[in-house]
Amino acid sequence: MDGDRQQMKQQILFSSDLDDPAAWAAAVAALRPEIEVVDWRNVTDPASVPFALLWKPPAAGLAAFTGLKGIQSLGAGINQLNLAELPAGVPLARLIDDSLTETMTDYAVAAVYRHYRGFDHFERQTRARLWDYRPARRKGDFPIGVMGLGVLGGAIARQLRDLGFPVSGWSRGPHRIDGVRCHAGTGELPDFLAASRLVVNVLALTPATAGILNAGTFALMPAESFVVNIGRGGHLIEDDLIAAIDAGRIAGATLDVFSTEPLPVEHPIYSRPEILATPHVAGAIAPETAARTVIENFDRALRGDPLLNAVDTARGY
Ligand SMILES: NC(=O)c1ccc[n+]([C@@H]2O[C@H](COP(=O)([O-])OP(=O)(O)OC[C@H]3O[C@@H](n4cnc5c(N)ncnc54)[C@H](OP(=O)(O)O)[C@@H]3O)[C@@H](O)[C@H]2O)c1
Repeated sequence: MDGDRQQMKQQILFSSDLDDPAAWAAAVAALRPEIEVVDWRNVTDPASVPFALLWKPPAAGLAAFTGLKGIQSLGAGINQLNLAELPAGVPLARLIDDSLTETMTDYAVAAVYRHYRGFDHFERQTRARLWDYRPARRKGDFPIGVMGLGVLGGAIARQLRDLGFPVSGWSRGPHRIDGVRCHAGTGELPDFLAASRLVVNVLALTPATAGILNAGTFALMPAESFVVNIGRGGHLIEDDLIAAIDAGRIAGATLDVFSTEPLPVEHPIYSRPEILATPHVAGAIAPETAARTVIENFDRALRGDPLLNAVDTARGY
């Protein structure tokens, strides 16, 4: 009997070095007890598994999973998956959930206020036992530029607008957001940067956006500007940021993502007082809410229907 029940269970392959398989298994089972989320190390019949939930592919690869009908990224981005390693023709979706939008927006707002109110400066003053009076800035003098106006960038831009900051946004194609000055395409990037005292990067990482936070970009921003990177480490040329800080172009940065994660202990970023590094914690997906989307995509994949939030692999996001 137990064996029969086991036979009837449908499996979702799970692979992540960051997320807890037990939490996802419980969240999915709470909604659909017949679906079992199985860590890749415990899969006994890979060819029978129809769906995968992946931050990164299993260390052993996906070649044995010949029956996959859909792949769900465990993040809003998909570049950590390395599209070339995924089985050809299997639809891929990114994960969108209110829990992620809320935590990413909170992080962006916290980082903006950290620089806007000079907490970065006063932290250094405190450690140096200095009492250095600086008048508070006014929001009107602190325009924010949001790079990326997708699900996350759009929410961040609206939240910062509602808090009273002048906000501009930049994306690939045109967007309209009330009260936000929207720019599109590389031709409009210089004007966008020139008007941004602080940029929050939340672009998708593609060949066109890799290394976009570089010396040329920093040179177009006003002197003593700030950089907040919550997109991907590949967006930022870290050496260029350090050089721009040394040159006084950039006054400080809050970074959540890095070219190598974990950031190696010998990395120069650790010894820069102007940079706050957080260990890729800006966004957090709650399995209890996001499990609904995963199950919806599981069902769609098995029916052969288009996945929710399907990735356009030609576009790269
Ligand atoms: N740090 C963290 O914890 C964390 C957590 C979640 C996500 N992320 C990162 O956040 C990124 C954004 O997520 P999302 O859900 O907002 O993605 P999304 O909805 O796909 O938005 C991506 C944005 O990037 C823009 N873009 C792409 N290529 C561009 C180009 N060549 N030039 C200008 N703009 C370009 C898109 O422009 P269009 O709107 O014109 O298409 C869009 O506005 C993810 O890809 C991921 O890397 C980080």
